Amino acid sequence: MIRLFPDANWTRPMRALLALAVIGALGIGMAGILPAFAQEDGEADQSNTTTGMSPATEADDDEENDEGDEDEDEDEDEDEEDQSSNPLTGLEAYYQKLDSEPAYASSLEAAVAKLVQNRDIAIPYDYIATLMRIPNAFGEGAACVVCHSSSDPEHSYRGLDLTTCEGIKTGSTEPPARPLFEPGNAAESLLQRRLRDNRMPYGVAFDAPTDTSHIRAIETWIDDGANNDEFFQQEVLPLFEDPRAFGGLLACTECHLSNQEPPSFHELDLTSYEGIMLGADSVAKAEEGLPPVPIVVPGDAAASRLYQRLTENRMPAGIEPSENRDHPNIQIMMQWIDQGASCD
Ligand code: HEC
Ligand code: HEC
Repeated sequence: MIRLFPDANWTRPMRALLALAVIGALGIGMAGILPAFAQEDGEADQSNTTTGMSPATEADDDEENDEGDEDEDEDEDEDEEDQSSNPLTGLEAYYQKLDSEPAYASSLEAAVAKLVQNRDIAIPYDYIATLMRIPNAFGEGAACVVCHSSSDPEHSYRGLDLTTCEGIKTGSTEPPARPLFEPGNAAESLLQRRLRDNRMPYGVAFDAPTDTSHIRAIETWIDDGANNDEFFQQEVLPLFEDPRAFGGLLACTECHLSNQEPPSFHELDLTSYEGIMLGADSVAKAEEGLPPVPIVVPGDAAASRLYQRLTENRMPAGIEPSENRDHPNIQIMMQWIDQGASCD
């Protein structure tokens, strides 16, 4: 846990308390985060649509399995004794196997990847319509159509109507009116971001306002060209080290402190101008011969991940950050878009 708070000046008890609060808030805890981040956007997602799982996710799953295996080994020692005296019946053996497989949920992902994605099985609109209507479709939370059921912004957030195929393809009708995706390109879509990307700082409340002076300072700095000027040094950089700057409990730099992972999530360094402009995953991408993932597009805050992460809530509203960001239904929804988002 101490890794999370490397530079904090708080007293120890305070740290421990916060650590507990964070663990509580993140539900199943930081372990749930690990499989998530190698999968982040761009190239990773593209390979994702073909393989379903990135190597990093598999590696993380292996890690989980390894942990599980240790327990299993212990169990097995006992079981061997048990079995010699009293062999397990089929059903008991089955349940024991289930218990000893903590990565059970990821085998559902693997099944979808293998059977649906790899063969590019056509996703019928009927399935998408169902996803919009049922709760917990993409992880625990209300059904999308509860809040997005009409193109009238008076009755539906963002004037977004997810009850019809036409409505899904039209997107938001309230200014800024915009489509959620271009058919054929799920990876670059606003919809994918909204289903996968947690708002930062990690665990910030859904209803924390996005129109604050601090978020506007970041927006202005990027729109003005993202220069290493006085405004950046005095008004922008200090925000990333301030635990209260964006409505969460932790400063950004508690988790994004260098370009090494661990300890820094996404190899993202928000402690300096150079770190911010270098972008995310610089080491991992370099190993693949690729440039880092930029988080700032000078002159265009709306297109910058840094700004998007501060203003875009993950859907459905209120979903826990620990919910699987690579839920099979997210993959299927993206496959439908990549296939052209047919209404048949
Ligand atoms: C409890 C209400 C609620 C539920 C349920 C909900 N949303 Fe939202 N959604 C909102 C609110 C409020 C906003 C606007 C605030 C924001 O941008 O975060 C929003 C914004 C969005 C946006 C951004 C549109 C734009 O133009 O920026 C998308 C896309 C979206 N929701 C999709 C979904 C999907 C898909 C689901 C189902 C998985 C869903 N929402 C479930 C309340 C909800
Ligand atoms: C408790 C740890 C934690 C804190 C605090 C935190 N982040 Fe993150 N950040 C993560 C994790 C984990 C991910 C990747 C998984 C996800 O999206 O949930 C991430 C992803 C990101 C990304 C996306 C990188 C990419 O490659 O697309 C950006 C940008 C980002 N964070 C910025 C911030 C900013 C700005 C703050 C402060 C407002 C912040 N983070 C606070 C843990 C944290």
